[in-house]
Formats: sequence, structure tokens, C-alpha cells
Amino acid sequence: MCDRILADGHTVVGADNFLTGHRRNLAHLADHPRFTFLELDVCRPLPDAGAFDCVIHAASPASPKDYAAHPIATLDVGSAGSRNLLELALASRARYLLTSTSECYGDPLEHPQTESYWGNVNPVGPRSCYDESKRFAEAMTMAYHRHYGLRTNIARIFNTYGPRM
Ligand SMILES: NC(=O)c1ccc[n+]([C@@H]2O[C@H](COP(=O)([O-])OP(=O)(O)OC[C@H]3O[C@@H](n4cnc5c(N)ncnc54)[C@H](O)[C@@H]3O)[C@@H](O)[C@H]2O)c1
Repeated sequence: MCDRILADGHTVVGADNFLTGHRRNLAHLADHPRFTFLELDVCRPLPDAGAFDCVIHAASPASPKDYAAHPIATLDVGSAGSRNLLELALASRARYLLTSTSECYGDPLEHPQTESYWGNVNPVGPRSCYDESKRFAEAMTMAYHRHYGLRTNIARIFNTYGPRM
């Protein structure tokens, strides 16, 4: 995603705490003139990194193995992390994008799922840390949209992979 945004001519400030990611995935951007990297946990207070046109919240353990290993960090990044990044977007009146998931539908009773389907979700099941984190993150995103008029988008991604994954 970062590579594509840079290729479109934009400037990017990226952040990751490497909970489940790897520094080597950024090696090709080390000398890029329009890329700055901050090693940080988005659940913690964020440094002043200037104004933004767009804030993308893509931080989260994403695979079942990863969120099973980090259930509390997974809930934190969807809740506290979402709040921090929404505040960052609000400060600049930036557009905000949340990368959500097909797991929002839980164990769906409809196939294929449409956006009007609300899901069949178990809040105490083994995947609940991920499903509920993303559902909360979606609810928080809509609250900022409705309450502050923030321009928000939610992308429910279904199993997707790309370079270095
Ligand atoms: N790839 C898919 O099929 C898919 C499907 C549905 C949703 N998503 C969502 O899209 C986003 C990106 O997924 P991905 O597949 O590129 O995963 P990824 O594991 O490549 O990237 C997620 C990154 O978030 C980082 N991270 C985790 N907690 C953090 C925190 N508190 N602070 C800062 N960084 C943190 C990890 O270290 C990792 O590098 C995730 O939010 C994921 O839940 C992906």
C-alpha cells in the first residue's frame, strides 16, 4: 500500500511497532526522499508529525496465528489505536481509512456477505479478540464520521496478500 501511495507522488509517514511485522519489509524504502518511518505503538500517545491529508489505520495482528498469540494487543490496536489515529485525522481534517475485515461477519449465515448483512459473531469465541476489535474500530470510525463529520472510509478486506507477505 505504501509503495503504491509513494508511486503516486505523495509523501508518507509510516509507523509500525513490529509486533508481527518485519523491519526488512521496509529496507527498499530506507533512502526514499518522501518516506519517513516512525517505530511506535499506535496505542500510545502519538508524536507531532505534522498535518496529514489522509490517515490509514492498517495496524493490527492480522493472521489467526498472530492474533491468537497477541489477543490483548489485538483488542488494544482496534480500540485505543483507532481512537489515536482518528484524533490524528481529526486534527488535520484528514480523510481516514480503516482496514477492516471479513471477520466482522463472524461465522456468517449468508454467502456471499453483503454490506447490509450484520454478521453472526461470537463475542467470547477464540477469534473474538480480532472480530470484536475490528467491529469496535468500525463503530468508532462511524462515531467520528457522524459526530465530527470526519471523512471516513472502511474497507473490509477478504484474504489478500502481496509482495513481502
Ligand atoms: N491481508 C488480509 O487478507 C487482510 C484481511 C482483512 C483485514 N486486514 C487488515 O489489514 C491491515 C493490514 O493487514 P496486512 O495483511 O498487511 O498485515 P501485516 O501483518 O502485514 O501488517 C500489519 C502491521 O501492523 C503492525 N502492528 C500491529 N499492532 C501495532 C501497533 N499497536 N502499533 C503499530 N503497528 C502495529 C504489525 O507489526 C504489522 O507490521 C490489518 O489491520 C489487517 O487486520 C488484512
